[in-house]
Amino acid sequence: MTNKNIILFLCVCVFSGNDCRQFRMPSFIKPCKRDDPNINECLKKIFETLRPFTSKGMPEMQILPLDPMSVPSVTLNQGQGSVNFTALFTNLKGYGAKNYQVQKIIADLKKKSMEIDLYFPSFRIESKYEVNGQILLLPIKGNGKFVGNFTNIQTKVKIGLEYLEKKNNKTFIEIKENKVSLIIGAVKLRFNNLFNGNKELGDQTNRFINENWRDLMQEIKPLLEDTVATIVMGIFKPLLINFSMDDLFPI
Ligand SMILES: *[C@@H]1O[C@H](CO)[C@@H](O)[C@H](O)[C@H]1NC(C)=O
Ligand SMILES: *[C@@H]1O[C@H](CO)[C@@H](O)[C@H](O)[C@H]1NC(C)=O
Ligand SMILES: *[C@@H]1O[C@H](CO)[C@@H](O)[C@H](O)[C@H]1NC(C)=O
Ligand SMILES: *[C@@H]1O[C@H](CO)[C@@H](O)[C@H](O)[C@H]1NC(C)=O
Repeated sequence: MTNKNIILFLCVCVFSGNDCRQFRMPSFIKPCKRDDPNINECLKKIFETLRPFTSKGMPEMQILPLDPMSVPSVTLNQGQGSVNFTALFTNLKGYGAKNYQVQKIIADLKKKSMEIDLYFPSFRIESKYEVNGQILLLPIKGNGKFVGNFTNIQTKVKIGLEYLEKKNNKTFIEIKENKVSLIIGAVKLRFNNLFNGNKELGDQTNRFINENWRDLMQEIKPLLEDTVATIVMGIFKPLLINFSMDDLFPI
């Protein structure tokens, strides 16, 4: 924004009584028309256009950098069956979002639903961890550095929308429900410093986890999917707060 623009902007804001949203859709994004019969293809194109911005983020749209993606903390509490643990991951960095491939988008604004299928060739998570409990009846306890490598990740995000009329009669979109399902091709995990740095026990436990990751994943899948859904929600929320229905899907 130039100085002149800022002054003009302030004047308009102060004197017109309009809402003073300073966020604008960047000019290289051509929003999809609400009644576009090919809205699915249109949205797919927007996702392609946005790929280069996964690393930089888009401050003008309140989208933070997604590759690497920073998440302050994730708590996993699983208290049933043969997998029973509490894990706290902090300072998470996720690498690999920028390689997403959009497989399918089905948007039905009238029915207030959206389904987005994305494929990620690989995704790496690095964080600190604290874990205590048991996995497949084997104890696990420790804290330190965690690395998780995930490959061939198929994600399906189903979103239920709600339209809410807010100030100035503008309609805003809210996410009423979202459900994520994950299919992961391969997993390699490493918990450093398990059991107070006992190398033998730590190596044994890491080997056990990696040999049995499919069973383990099966047990914690719902928890994992809910966690990812919460993170996805966090990415879209600022966008939906700052941009109205007319901005996002013009008539
Ligand atoms: C889970 O682990 C805790 C502590 O180790 C134990 O008290 C509890 O009974 C376990 N729950 C199940 C369902 O195994
Ligand atoms: C919003 O809509 C209502 C009824 O349609 C109207 O009375 C009111 O003046 C509108 N307010 C603004 C700010 O446009
Ligand atoms: C995860 O991937 C990175 C980068 O490819 C590699 O350096 C690291 O050794 C891998 N870690 C595990 C636990 O497989
Ligand atoms: C934009 O969204 C953020 C939430 O991330 C919020 O804090 C901020 O107030 C919003 N800005 C406007 C102008 O609504």
